[in-house]
Amino acid sequence: MKAFPTSRFSIAPMLDWTDRHYRYFARVMSENTLLYTEMVTTGAIIYGKGDYLAYNDEEHPLALQLGGSNPKDLAHCAKLAAERGYDEVNINVGCPSDRVQNGRFGACLMAEPDLVAECVDAMKQVVDIPVTVKTRIGIDEQDSYEFLTKFIDTVSAKGCSEFTIHARKAWLQGLSPKENREIPPLDYDRVYQLKRDYPHLNIAINGGITSLEQAKVHLAQLDGVMVGREAYQNPYMLAEVDQQLFGSSGPILSRDEVIEKMVPYIERHIQQGGRLNHITRHMIGLFQGLPGSRSWRRHLSENAHKTGAGIEVVRDAVASMYENAPKD
Ligand SMILES: Cc1cc2nc3c(=O)[nH]c(=O)nc-3n(C[C@H](O)[C@H](O)[C@H](O)COP(=O)(O)O)c2cc1C
Repeated sequence: MKAFPTSRFSIAPMLDWTDRHYRYFARVMSENTLLYTEMVTTGAIIYGKGDYLAYNDEEHPLALQLGGSNPKDLAHCAKLAAERGYDEVNINVGCPSDRVQNGRFGACLMAEPDLVAECVDAMKQVVDIPVTVKTRIGIDEQDSYEFLTKFIDTVSAKGCSEFTIHARKAWLQGLSPKENREIPPLDYDRVYQLKRDYPHLNIAINGGITSLEQAKVHLAQLDGVMVGREAYQNPYMLAEVDQQLFGSSGPILSRDEVIEKMVPYIERHIQQGGRLNHITRHMIGLFQGLPGSRSWRRHLSENAHKTGAGIEVVRDAVASMYENAPKD
């Protein structure tokens, strides 16, 4: 048995960012972190031509995030996810984009707790893996604590026992998704209150968390912490997650070691006809905050997309970084 549940620390689902290459990269740095896919709509899975459920075996523990609100479709997709070996399936009840609202899913579903409960119920009937919900503390003018608890009451009554709460509300009109991640104020106390009132539920917090120190403060009150933008823009923060949050005594990889561990994966991808920058675009932030990181970023940005670009571009980017780091 594991000392801690995997949901103790997770990387948020992020469209266009947390694809399988990023997730592989994140996994190199942390064995324990729970990884989420980008949101995949039920429509894409059911009617799309690509394989939207593909992932690398190394990515476990891995959760599939679904966008949708049709119980039958969600159940169908959850079943496929379980068959493909996903460890969890999560419903997106937090995204405020217009496109998502038009499809009647994402954050607007907070106003329809009975429907979300029906979705959870349908999914739980066909899978044994956890069915979880990622949501916000409110939408538009519906931002009272009672609104949130009614949602939690209704959805948990159908067997959802794990919630991740982005600790700010969403404005469904007038703000872009990006603004909806910045403008509505964070209210961590509300999430702490929720855990106090629902001690039997697994409650993870999300929003504005940028360090493992902050994560520890939240973990004193809550079951889990989910980090989004910081884990992408400053991925090396993941290198100490296992040691600091999961009690691991394993070694902490250096940035250079992280790159070396990526090399075989990158080479395999290129051999199979993929482009270097599909992977390296996620590695741009690896040296974030260090002297010379600009040279690393620039070398990759200028060269990794070129036809025929191979692993030497990565090695040259490292070399150019060390050359250009100010000496003391
Ligand atoms: C580029 C980007 C894409 C996102 N895509 C999704 C998504 O597909 N599903 C989702 O639930 N949230 C999505 N989010 C929101 C994040 O999961 C997270 O809730 C938000 O960024 C707040 O966490 P943070 O402050 O740690 O970044 C996205 C955020 C970003 C920056």
